[in-house]
Amino acid sequence: MATTLAPVHLNRKVEEFLSQKRKMLIGGQWVEAASGKTFDTFNPATGEVLTCVPEGDREDIDRAVKAARKAFEEGPWPEVSPAQRGRLLLKLADLVDKNHEELAELETLDNGKPVFFSRIADVPATADMFRYFGGWATKVEGTTVPVSMPGAKYLAYTLREPIGVVGQIIPWNFPLIMASWKLAPALAVGCTVVLKPAEQTPLTALRLGELILEAGFPEGVVNIVTGFGETAGAALAAHSHVDKIAFTGSTEVGKLIVNAASGNLKKVSLELGGKSPNIIFPDADLKNAIPGSANAIFFNQGQCCTAGSRLFVHKNIFDEVIDGVAAFTKNFRIGPGIDPANNLGPLISQEQLDRVCGYLDSGAKEGAKTVVGGHKIGDKGYFVEPTLLVDVRPDMKVVREEIFGPVVAAIPFSDPNEIAASANATTYGLAAAVWTRDLSTAHRMAAKLRAGTVWINCYNVFDSALPFGGYKQSGWGREMGHDALELYTEVKAVCAQI
Ligand code: NAI
Ligand code: MG
Repeated sequence: MATTLAPVHLNRKVEEFLSQKRKMLIGGQWVEAASGKTFDTFNPATGEVLTCVPEGDREDIDRAVKAARKAFEEGPWPEVSPAQRGRLLLKLADLVDKNHEELAELETLDNGKPVFFSRIADVPATADMFRYFGGWATKVEGTTVPVSMPGAKYLAYTLREPIGVVGQIIPWNFPLIMASWKLAPALAVGCTVVLKPAEQTPLTALRLGELILEAGFPEGVVNIVTGFGETAGAALAAHSHVDKIAFTGSTEVGKLIVNAASGNLKKVSLELGGKSPNIIFPDADLKNAIPGSANAIFFNQGQCCTAGSRLFVHKNIFDEVIDGVAAFTKNFRIGPGIDPANNLGPLISQEQLDRVCGYLDSGAKEGAKTVVGGHKIGDKGYFVEPTLLVDVRPDMKVVREEIFGPVVAAIPFSDPNEIAASANATTYGLAAAVWTRDLSTAHRMAAKLRAGTVWINCYNVFDSALPFGGYKQSGWGREMGHDALELYTEVKAVCAQI
């Protein structure tokens, strides 16, 4: 477990990007905040400042919303054909691919995640999302509807129209991917956007803004305002000329967004937290289930809304699974993500490190036993050990609350018929997984689990074509797949007497 930063050669364009004072994108122009204020963004592996970005606030959000409104109403965006919108998205996907290494390193520096994953997951998934929705741009269709009103004949049909100006607020755990989940469907259907990246990770969104202009999107179609949640984010959620707000982040802030949106009753979609159950049945293939369950929680340092943070294991195999997961943690090489040899990076921030360590303390105080891990690592950067807890009770905070760190609570079960109820005993409902060789068990569980995604013998498998979102307090609406088109469109019924 090394946390020293080995000398690495950064991509030349990354060094260039970091050496310049960054600006934000409003109405096709790179601008400073109206206040002139900036804030620093940090490398979580070292705590050192990477660069600074504008501290956008209410006035900047207002400027950005005006630019988005103008682009939506006056053009040329409304005149850009679906095929042209599709081509712009495909071009953007190509530009993401072309700048793959630069984006991967920038993502890793700003977020901390291992560059290995930025290269094979974050950047390619971002390109794929733009490409997938580029294909949808020409396929946003209405229907013809038979009308039975007596006395005359009618021709009735529906139009699926862009909802208008969209505000999008995204978190820091997958900065580029989250930007693509938000932007791609909105742009495919013809909306204009004000995007607010997380204050911890503004850099790749700003680089993406450059690529959006390079691809040829007209000015004002995408605006990117960097700033804090309580100021810029809150102003965007409350803005009376925003038609829809899409948010990914904590359930707590999700509720604030709902309140803020009530002023003009803008449409809202939310992708929030989770406390996902990962269930191993006694007949599971443990060769796959053990590493799969370790990665389910430890991938991205546990900073995944889908993290498999409650590990339910049948009592007959409990010890074997616990030993296996504990042993698996020894495979992690923990250190700065920019060193390609490391496969577990730091947490995002001091705040997140404190939050996760707070949960480790609370688990210990409430009587949980730590099998492996349990501590922060070193004094430089925000590293914490992958941690496995046993002897937990359902009322413990570590079992109930989203930790958003590499901490899993393992819970034995004996009655397979009762496990769905225990798994569902949470206010969340984002994801779940089952490991079994029995087809009936697998699909019966898939039906019983109250979660937006159920994985069978796998975990964290995502695809641009697979809808994703939460039951219960994990959110409203579905992103990705064609379901995402509904988030950004209104349906208009047109009825003509003929
Ligand atoms: P957060 O929910 O505060 O931040 C997410 C985004 O919302 C950021 O862009 C932030 O600037 C913005 N935001 C914050 N307050 C806002 C407000 N009042 N109005 C409008 N926008 C606002 O999440 P934070 O504080 O970074 O992390 C806290 C916890 O949230 C984590 O420990 C984790 O449990 C959860 N979380 C869940 C995520 C998910 O993917 N579901 C992602 C990030 C955090
Ligand atoms: Mg917050």
